[in-house]
Order: sequence, then structure tokens, then C-alpha cells
Amino acid sequence: MAAYADIHDEGERLGADELGALQLTRLRATLRRAYERVPFYRESFDKAGVRPEDCRSLADLARFPFTAKTDLRDQYPFGMFAVPREDVRRLHASSGTTGRPTVVGYTDGDLSTWADVVARSLRAAGARPGQLVHVAYGYGLFTGGLGAHYGAERLGCTVVPASGGMTDRQVMLIRDFRPEVIMVTPSYMLTLLDEMERQGVDPRSTSLRTGVFGAEPWTEEMRREIEERLGIDAVDIYGLSEVMGPGVAQEFASTKDGLHIWEDHFYPEVVDPLTGAVLPEGELGELVFTSLTKEAMPVVRYRTRDLTRLLPGTARPAFRRMEKVTGRSDDMIILRGVNLYPTQIEEILLRTAALAPHFQLRLTREGRMDALTVRVEARREAAAAQREAAAAAVVRAVKEGVGVSVRVEVVEPETLERSVGKIKRLVDLRGAG
Ligand code: DLL
Repeated sequence: MAAYADIHDEGERLGADELGALQLTRLRATLRRAYERVPFYRESFDKAGVRPEDCRSLADLARFPFTAKTDLRDQYPFGMFAVPREDVRRLHASSGTTGRPTVVGYTDGDLSTWADVVARSLRAAGARPGQLVHVAYGYGLFTGGLGAHYGAERLGCTVVPASGGMTDRQVMLIRDFRPEVIMVTPSYMLTLLDEMERQGVDPRSTSLRTGVFGAEPWTEEMRREIEERLGIDAVDIYGLSEVMGPGVAQEFASTKDGLHIWEDHFYPEVVDPLTGAVLPEGELGELVFTSLTKEAMPVVRYRTRDLTRLLPGTARPAFRRMEKVTGRSDDMIILRGVNLYPTQIEEILLRTAALAPHFQLRLTREGRMDALTVRVEARREAAAAQREAAAAAVVRAVKEGVGVSVRVEVVEPETLERSVGKIKRLVDLRGAG
């Protein structure tokens, strides 16, 4: 057991050996529970020729089949539940872009675990009991709002359930209630920052000290932009509804070096996205999670499609870290044979002084070729010549850094649509005549 001064719960004190032993016990119980109670898992284990009792070590997990988002969708709405519906206390659903959403369920016990991992995350982010937390993640079927909310309450904070939208009123609430902590998507934080400036409020003069940002990829450059403009510590929170919601992994404000995965509840693997082979620590691949304590909806080897690598723990040495997720396989743009993620463009744009951090990527087809246009707002103070030079510089940097030619259109400030939640960077116009 480690002696940290500042923890939310005893789980954080586990040493590496204790954690490993606990994980194995919990993993075996989860596999049993899934096999015995969820026909989908019984079938998929049977098909792969594995039984829960075949898992004798953590490495044996690799013998078990993966679960994909489509599997969850096929079981719509309640087919993945391992408890009678009456024991499911809450439902959430993930934002499917097309067709049926993916439904997830929580028992009383699951809701309590979730509140604890978010409370842990908040503490790691630098929040303390008694502080005021402004939650601007959306409330509803999305797990962001309610997940953040109950975690902040569990930590002993005062919560302002602002949800997303009504941006001018949010700024008023921040001014009047004086929260120390804000939980919001980084893209909506930018919208809030612009609104503060519009109202003549100096963002650095607000009470905010800590921002807990997630639900979408964001770069180190974006961290710098937000930290400087707002005068706060900006840290990363990661999660997904299928595994729990926010609070699966959290970056410590004290180290800002990637996210510690709360491994006593969520067991991570990184696999080769094509072959499914488990990759060693440090290698980039697709993140896969197996829940260790979930009751209503255990997940076994769930493929997140998020790309990252596992790294050794720092602030909590027994818990592995994951590198900041810079892309998910779904967001990858293949432009004339070159793979490109929106975050690569974000990095370049935010390093260009004349450009604002508001941008959109537009994919079109010209003849038989795809073309990508980066539409980005100029900073208000940037003169015409600076804007032109900035556009040329971005074209060059993308060509050099990514290896592909794009077009760059620098547009007037405040002309691109603003985010109120998860931002959609890519507009695919290839089918649009
Ligand atoms: O976005 C849960 C969440 C809410 C996390 C609030 C953090 C804060 P879903 O809607 O199911 O759940 O979307 C999950 O969002 O697989 C990632 O692709 C992406 N994502 C979430 N957090 C991060 C992050 C919530 N910190 C999907 N960095 C995930 C990059 C993230 N991507």
C-alpha cells in the first residue's frame, strides 16, 4: 500500500502486485458473470472455444474474443444486460451517428463505482471537497453531464448542473457563482471563452482554476491555448459510455503526462487494429477495455477504436497511463492514400499566430480525387497580409508534416459554427453533388 497524501479512496493506494491480484480475481468473476448471464457472451466464448475458467492469468484474457460496437448495437436495446431490467437503475445511450444508439445500463452499485472513479479523477485534476464545480457537459442520454455531476457530488463539491448551451447565461453563472472547477468539452470551452470576451469579461479574471476536459480529442497546443487564455490548469479526462462514461482514465494536474487508467475497475489492452494481436507497452494501437467491477453491463475486450499507447504509471505508479488520445480510427481521413487525423491539423493551426483555434475540415471530390479544405478563422487582430501568410504557412506545414496537399481558407472571426458539446470537425461533402 502506498502512502499518498491526497486520495479519494483506498483503491488508489494499491501497489502493483496487489493491483494485479485484485484484477485477476475481478476479471475471472467478470468473465463468469458475462458467460452465465449474457447469451451474447456465452455464444461468442463458445464460438471461440474458451471458458471463463480458462483465464488463469491476466495474459489469458488475450484468448477471449473481442466485443465490437456493432455487437452492442445488435443487442439493442437491453440484450447486453447481466441483471434483470428492474435492477438497472439508469440507462444512457451513446451517440450513434447512424441507426440505433448503443444502450448502456447501470445498477445502484455501478452508479456508485462511477461516482467514485469520477471523484478520484476530479481529485487528481486538482479539485477539492468544498469547491464549486460548473458542469457544462451535456445532461441527458450522453454520459458526460450526469457522470461528471455525481462524481463531483461524491467528492463533496457544490455542483452547478449547467449542461451545454445557453452560452451567454453560462458566462453569467461563472461570474456570479465563482466556480473553481469547470468540466466541459475543450471545444465548448473555446465557445465559452469567446463569449466571455464578447461580454467584456477578462477570462483570466474569473474564479476558475481547473478545467477537466474530455469527450473529444484535443492537443497539447489546445491545452496551451486554453491554459493561457483562462489562467487555469487544463487536464484530460477520458471515458466512453460502453465502458462506463467519463472517469475511466484521468490526467493528474501535478504531472500532465497522459491519463492514469483506473485499472482496478477497467482493464486495458492495446491491440494491433488489423490483426488484433496484443501489443507491448509503449506501442501505438487500438485501446481495448474489459470491465472488472461492472454489474449491469460487463464488457469483455471492448474495442474502443481509440488510438493510444500504454505507458508506466507516474503519479500513481501501480496504474498504467494511456497517452492522450489523438484520434480514433473512425475519424481518420484517407486523403489520396495518406492517413490524416483532425488533431494533426489542429496542432499546426494552433501554432500559427494569426489563426484562431476554430476550424473545420471539408472533404470534397474533384473529378476522381478527394480534396480537403481547412477552413479556419483568423484572429481578430490579424491583418490581411498576415492571414494570407498564415494560410500559406499551414499549406506548407501540412505538406511537410503529414505529406499531403490541402487547401486553406482563412475566414473572418466568428463565422464558423461553434461547438456546444462534442465538436464535429469533418464535413464530408463528397456525396453532395
Ligand atoms: O464522451 C464520455 C466522456 C464524457 C468522457 C465527458 C470524458 C468527458 P461517449 O459519448 O461514449 O462517451 O464517447 C466516447 O469519445 O471512445 C473517444 O473517442 C472520445 N473521447 C472521450 N474522452 C476523450 C478524451 C464520452 N479525453 C468516445 N480524448 C471515446 C479524446 C475522447 N477522445
